[in-house]
Amino acid sequence: MSFMQIHNLKVHYPVRGGILNSVVDYIYAVDGISMEFEKGKAYGLVGESGCGKSTTGKVIIGLEKITAGRICYEGVDVTNSNNHRKSAFNRDIQMIFQDAHSSLNPRKRVQDIIAEPIRNFLKLTPKEEKRKIHELLEIVGMPEDAKYKYPHEFSGGQKQRIGIARAIATNPKLIIADEPVSALDLSVQAQVLNFMKEIQREYGLSYLFISHDLGVVQHMCEHISIMYKGRFVETGSKYDIYKNPQHIYTKRLLSAIPNTSPIGRDERKKERILVEKHYQENVRKYFDRQARVFDLVPVSKTHFVAATSSMKGGF
Ligand SMILES: Nc1ncnc2c1ncn2[C@@H]1O[C@H](COP(=O)(O)OP(=O)(O)OP(=O)(O)O)[C@@H](O)[C@H]1O
Ligand SMILES: [Mg+2]
Repeated sequence: MSFMQIHNLKVHYPVRGGILNSVVDYIYAVDGISMEFEKGKAYGLVGESGCGKSTTGKVIIGLEKITAGRICYEGVDVTNSNNHRKSAFNRDIQMIFQDAHSSLNPRKRVQDIIAEPIRNFLKLTPKEEKRKIHELLEIVGMPEDAKYKYPHEFSGGQKQRIGIARAIATNPKLIIADEPVSALDLSVQAQVLNFMKEIQREYGLSYLFISHDLGVVQHMCEHISIMYKGRFVETGSKYDIYKNPQHIYTKRLLSAIPNTSPIGRDERKKERILVEKHYQENVRKYFDRQARVFDLVPVSKTHFVAATSSMKGGF
């Protein structure tokens, strides 16, 4: 059972122009997506730059205004409400940002950065707060004296750990992780990802894991949605997406996953060229006249693909 549902979410940004600076058009950053989050599971959101991934994360957490749609948390509509449920929602949904450097206030010491959500949401005495900060630093594998330092005194991977400590400070149910490792070196990426998996298991955390990298998402997520121009072209279990992809765009993204193994390198290259050729020749059929993604139709109970009804079964 999912504890949180998102129905037909939309974020449209007005574009102003002309001498009157009136609204002349809209950017459909997010244009009708639905998601469900389950306890202890990671939901992957993948797509190319500008497809609306960060906007999705930001609107869920309340950093962007919602144009249309509904967010339900533990059976209650929290889209616009301002009651105690909303405050529980704000406590239980936290975010880790792509660029740990700019998301940590450079003028604050680590202890004050981590204390921020604690002070906002948990009623702790100064002594309890101190203990909590100590505990959080230990969980993310940072030395205790880190609390007196400023963000610039840490490496990228360490900064991301501080961001994670802040995000888990309120014992959240869901963490929205927006490209949490894309700014890090490959070896550090693996460390941070494995650490995120560990705390997920330990605390029954759920993730909305945002990435442009299908390889990373495969490692982290049970359910995956492929986003294109603000909509989902395909959504399904990890198995559905990696073993039985339906949409031409998903197939193209899959064929582009880097694989450094020399075994089968030539075959992979040939396959990639074939997929790209097929994509270029057929891509128009997969989108409507305005190059808009079709509505989703079911492939199975867990698997949905954007298609017209006439295309169903005809991929
Ligand atoms: N505040 C804003 N005002 C107007 N347009 C915006 C705003 N924020 C984002 N956009 C536009 O909305 C679209 C989606 O942006 P978003 O940042 O969600 O993409 P993304 O998938 O996260 O991309 P990336 O992989 O590069 O991070 C883009 O066309 C972007 O230019
Ligand atoms: Mg982004």
